[in-house]
Amino acid sequence: MDSIIVTGGAELKGQIPIAGAKNACLALMPATLLSDEPLTLTNAPRLSDIKTMTVLLESLGAEVRSMQEGRVLAMSSHDLTNLTADYDIVRKMRASNLVLGPLLARAGRAVVSLPGGCAIGARPMDIHVSGLEALGAEIELKDGYLHAEARKGLKGAVIEQRFASVGATENIVMAATLARGTTVLKNAAREPEIVDLVRCLRAMGAQIEGEGTSTIEVQGVDRLHGATHAVVADRIEMGTYMIAPAIAGGEIELVGGSMDLLPAFCEKLEGTGISVTPTANGLKVARSNGRARAIDVRTEIFPGFPTDLQAQMMALLCTANGTSVLEETIFENRFMHAPELVRMGAEIDVHGGHATVTGVERLRGARVMATDLRASVSLILAGLGAEGETVVSRVYHLDRGYERVEEKLSAVGARIERVRGE
Ligand code: UD1
Repeated sequence: MDSIIVTGGAELKGQIPIAGAKNACLALMPATLLSDEPLTLTNAPRLSDIKTMTVLLESLGAEVRSMQEGRVLAMSSHDLTNLTADYDIVRKMRASNLVLGPLLARAGRAVVSLPGGCAIGARPMDIHVSGLEALGAEIELKDGYLHAEARKGLKGAVIEQRFASVGATENIVMAATLARGTTVLKNAAREPEIVDLVRCLRAMGAQIEGEGTSTIEVQGVDRLHGATHAVVADRIEMGTYMIAPAIAGGEIELVGGSMDLLPAFCEKLEGTGISVTPTANGLKVARSNGRARAIDVRTEIFPGFPTDLQAQMMALLCTANGTSVLEETIFENRFMHAPELVRMGAEIDVHGGHATVTGVERLRGARVMATDLRASVSLILAGLGAEGETVVSRVYHLDRGYERVEEKLSAVGARIERVRGE
């Protein structure tokens, strides 16, 4: 397995291009299943999670052609030959469950294994299931698989989610595009990735209103047609690289980024004393004067502070001046990076859904291991400001969600390299 070695202490300067959003692309790809005409995505990120979704779609009979070194995905689901999403693929990535709604809507039947993914909590699927049942599907859990059927087709309904789940919103909206009549989804997720999915579905002929608000209304249509859609910028990649100069010092421009994608995060980062300014190409982040200040952070659904940036923010707060409290409200087991940061000299006390971080002057490099995607990158960020060498192992988690991380960071002056493993 590959490792990444970071030697701390180098200030960063330059530009980092932001890729298309992994989480948007993973919802957009299954949208191909809704139509027998081609769907083409541009600005796709080159990540192992995208390969996993490709394998899953191909296993269902879709064709996925990767062009321009993976930047363009040309998909066609003219013939669906299989309606079962197998455990061996789904266990690698929770987002595989996003084929459930589209398969059900197009083919009237789907069998989808319960998902795996990052080890950051229970992550059940009850909200997906109750939403699709409200649309008329009959769903049964047998041998670890959800068996879903809509014999008479799906029918629009008023659905209120008990929590604004991102994945359930995506599954329900996709299913509703081909249902008879009107679906009103209340307490819908408002994330930019949902807005991006709705724009693509609309380009395919779907009739949807209200994306980006907590009520989405879908008027079902008989069929969707082909389209070409550009994937929105990856706000989590952007936020991650915004923290790099905040830890290491220096100034970075995030090309293609935008503050609107991360309102609460930008505000919190500014609260630590880091400057964030819009530019013609995106935005610029700079740390010029001394240590960051401690701040308190609570993860929330959009537009609140994203859970996917909590680990990276913790890496920064480890060396901030003062004591910070981070509260995780979205996932119950998402402080697995804390013990690894402690190995680097951080002072962190985890108690339930809270972590109290007392800033130290400097972290020290160490051998550390990541247990999930965002945790891995937080250790790399911590290593950028640490004294000496940090060796991060198990970086396959990282490759699921960050494209060429070592190339992007070394291009702005970080001392970072990948060591190929067996
Ligand atoms: C998506 C993102 C993930 C991000 C998360 C929250 C993708 C591919 N992944 O994941 O990176 O961290 O949003 O912003 O877009 N829940 C239930 N029942 C359900 C569904 C969810 O209890 O049926 C719970 C989950 O266990 C979790 C919380 O709701 O505690 C958030 O989950 P959800 O919003 O569904 O996240 P994902 O779509 O899985």
